[in-house]
Amino acid sequence: MSSVRPETFSESKTGKEEIESTFKWQMSTDGPETYEECIVSTWMDDWALNLIEAGHIGPNQRVLDVACGTGIMARRAAALVGPEGRFASVDLNEGMLRVACRCAEQTGVTGIEWYHCDVTQMPFSNGEFDIVLCQQGLQFFPDKLGALQEIKRVLVPHGTLALSVWGRPENSPHVMVICDVFTEFFGPDSTQMFQVACCLSSHDLLNDLLREAGFSNISIKTEVKVAHHPSFARFLPAYFSIFPVASLISELTDEERNRMFHCIERRLAPWIEKGALAIPTENNILTAENG
Ligand SMILES: C[S@@+](CC[C@H](N)C(=O)[O-])C[C@H]1O[C@@H](n2cnc3c(N)ncnc32)[C@H](O)[C@@H]1O
Repeated sequence: MSSVRPETFSESKTGKEEIESTFKWQMSTDGPETYEECIVSTWMDDWALNLIEAGHIGPNQRVLDVACGTGIMARRAAALVGPEGRFASVDLNEGMLRVACRCAEQTGVTGIEWYHCDVTQMPFSNGEFDIVLCQQGLQFFPDKLGALQEIKRVLVPHGTLALSVWGRPENSPHVMVICDVFTEFFGPDSTQMFQVACCLSSHDLLNDLLREAGFSNISIKTEVKVAHHPSFARFLPAYFSIFPVASLISELTDEERNRMFHCIERRLAPWIEKGALAIPTENNILTAENG
């Protein structure tokens, strides 16, 4: 994953000047760090609590977090299983796992097992886990059915799967606005990442997929929560940096980039107050039983 990040940012600058200095871009490869700073703090940390509640995680349970990213689920849920329980996390991206290990250490969370593997080929025996969690992972797996079948395999019979996938783009204004602006600047292909992120927003699609994989008692709740970031000017370049379109943004002239930024800022104005972002985002929280 490559990323772009602002070259300069000065806390003392405000308004247009701050925005324009924030938008001096350079390429870098710190995607997982940026993901942790921007996406986890704005969305994943808060939504992790919903998934923990949905999964009914408690003492002595054996929990697996699939597509763990930088490990927010482990940091929030591992303590709940207690000394007799087990908490394992897997991800395909080694960089994500490195940041996950470091963040767990820094926050005093111990005893997590970390595995670098593809969700369709996990190094576990049949029925090793009571609960599988997957926050915002399923929509990114190329083989969704294969992933769900492998999750089912490692779950104990009647074990619980609790997963989340983003809801309808029209109920998440930043998705709509950024897709419109990307399309204007780079053409329709540039919105592919958002299309993937929101590709499982339909309950019917989710239901069919889960049923085909052999799950039962499927329940889907759609919720909207307001995500917060203290500085829109800091948020936007960090957010863009994890999208494939980042390299195209870095090739724009300063003037074009600033025009793009101001265009997005104008359209998101109803959700920006005193420089801080507060944006509603729709999420589907799904639970299902193995068997
Ligand atoms: C949007 S992130 C979600 C991360 C984490 N669950 C969270 O709540 O922050 C999606 C994650 O899926 C992982 N991923 C994508 N394809 C995968 C696969 N085939 N097997 C395992 N992990 C995968 C990515 O590396 C990334 O960390």
